[in-house]
Amino acid sequence: MADKAERTVVLIKPDALQRNLMGEIIQRFERKGIKIVGCKMIRLDDALLDEHYSHHKDKPFFDDLKNFMKSAPVLAMILEAPEVIKAVRIIIGPTKASEADAGSIRGDLSISSASANLVHASDSNESAEQEIKRFFKPEEIFNYEKIDESFSG
Ligand code: CMP
Repeated sequence: MADKAERTVVLIKPDALQRNLMGEIIQRFERKGIKIVGCKMIRLDDALLDEHYSHHKDKPFFDDLKNFMKSAPVLAMILEAPEVIKAVRIIIGPTKASEADAGSIRGDLSISSASANLVHASDSNESAEQEIKRFFKPEEIFNYEKIDESFSG
């Protein structure tokens, strides 16, 4: 990993897959100059979702959220750049898509006020580290040089 680079996990959710928005969403990260160092399709199961959403297990929407996240595969990605955790959360917008600013992924592409907000992104360094281990094996993460990295310092 390049000096000062940080990693975050993004899950492109079933609503994005069903609405043919995966390419549009990936393009927004690429255009920002963010490097993709891991990318795979996964069908989430109860064990993974119980762990990933353990902090929501007592919320009334927990079962709906799990059923939604199991309804189709998700695209799991590891993104790398300096300060990428904060940058990605700005690019995607707040959880409630109906209130997200125009220009953000959720603001432009979703009207949902519940689960169908297109993307998940790690909210801290600690959760990024846990989520990388949760969703990726070491051999699924790629270290490589990208010529435009000199423009992201
Ligand atoms: P995510 O970033 O994946 O983290 C928790 C998820 O819970 C969130 O995105 C939404 O998909 C979902 N969520 C949050 N609030 C609600 C709600 N009120 N009803 C249903 N799902 C919700």
